Amino acid sequence: MVLYMADNSTPTIIKGLEGVYFTETKICKVDGAKGRLWYRGYSIESLAKNSSFEETSYLILYGALPNNDALAKFKSKLVSYMALDKQLIGLIESFNGKMLPMDILRTAVSSISAFAEKKVYQNENDEKIEQAIEIIGNICGIVATIGAISKGRKYTEPDNTLGVAENILYMLNGNKPDEKVSKMLDVMMLLHAEHSSNASTFCTIVAGSTLADIYSAITAGICALKGPLHGGADEKALDMMRAIGNPNNTEKYIEDALAGKERIMGFGHRVYKAYDPRAKVIKAYLEEIQNGSTMEVQTLTAIALRAEKMMVDKLGETKGIWPNVDFFSGPVYTYIGIPKELFTPLFAASRSPGWCAHMLEYWQDNRLIRPLDYYNGQLDIPYVPIEQRK
Ligand code: CMC
Repeated sequence: MVLYMADNSTPTIIKGLEGVYFTETKICKVDGAKGRLWYRGYSIESLAKNSSFEETSYLILYGALPNNDALAKFKSKLVSYMALDKQLIGLIESFNGKMLPMDILRTAVSSISAFAEKKVYQNENDEKIEQAIEIIGNICGIVATIGAISKGRKYTEPDNTLGVAENILYMLNGNKPDEKVSKMLDVMMLLHAEHSSNASTFCTIVAGSTLADIYSAITAGICALKGPLHGGADEKALDMMRAIGNPNNTEKYIEDALAGKERIMGFGHRVYKAYDPRAKVIKAYLEEIQNGSTMEVQTLTAIALRAEKMMVDKLGETKGIWPNVDFFSGPVYTYIGIPKELFTPLFAASRSPGWCAHMLEYWQDNRLIRPLDYYNGQLDIPYVPIEQRK
């Protein structure tokens, strides 16, 4: 492998590591040209239609679909890990109103090793898988609790007769959720569960490649997810829909934004140069919620559909800028009853199986991630004592 240019000339610099492969994986395949996505070989469309967040998380972590017994045990573990330690609840309460939910989540997750169950395992692999399940359950419980506390509610213990998405709504609102609404959240979570080496997954792996523990690695992933170029785009897309306000203003708003060189959040992708298949599944929900929902959801839905049509006509085929997973989430989460500030934390909860699976896979053949940067400053500058400096 050539590391340095023999003649000291400038090496090729790949900004943003665009198009760079850094590892092999069996977890996820994204075909950006055709707009296709598979988790462990199963298409996202077939999982969205037939599976659940729990089953898909099992698939992502273990590499195969579970049988009935394995799924029941896995689901029950995830839900039991949604229950939070009193000190952790206190920590969330103490930050309520002082930090954004995504920042509270980051802080809470970085502390969960303090509350993790100390058990003896048969082997290191069993321990790592158990830690992963614990982290996924914990993050789901933390996100629901952050939402509940910010609404002025108290912590609600998860109900072990309910699944993960149902429990998120139950812990958030304090009452048993409607079946249709919780199924919608379940599918939303499944669609976000994994997406190859995006910024947050890569960040997780970079931190873990130093052999830092999984709690540190997942915290690093959460930090990277926050930004509006990644997971934070769902909140910004909703901000835009709210700023548009009236569906009849949509086209002019987008036209002006593009003329001002602004980015339309929820569009474009580093890998997809075709319609994001996850956005297609979410778009189908818009058609379902358009009727029979609140005025706010109907307005947001109408704006989203008009904005999508305009962007696709203008930039789809010509520039390869299509809706991504974050664009339609706003109206759907609003319909489900999720407040905007909880969108990105919920994305983190949904993505945690992917982060954990990649970390465990990478550790099987770990190599410290340490790329190079090309120094283009001066060298051997004479040191001038402070009293002689101008
Ligand atoms: N709106 C308007 N123009 C855009 C957009 C957009 N959303 N995205 C890219 N472009 C234009 C960009 O201005 C540039 O134009 P030009 O060639 O004339 O200078 C061209 O497309 C290429 O842009 P790029 O930044 O080089 O493309 P990229 O592949 O690095 O960008 C991206 C990927 C996600 C950073 C970008 O599309 C973007 O900023 N999108 C908005 C934020 C967003 O929705 N992020 C969520 C990504 S998917 C889910 C997730 O990861 O969480």
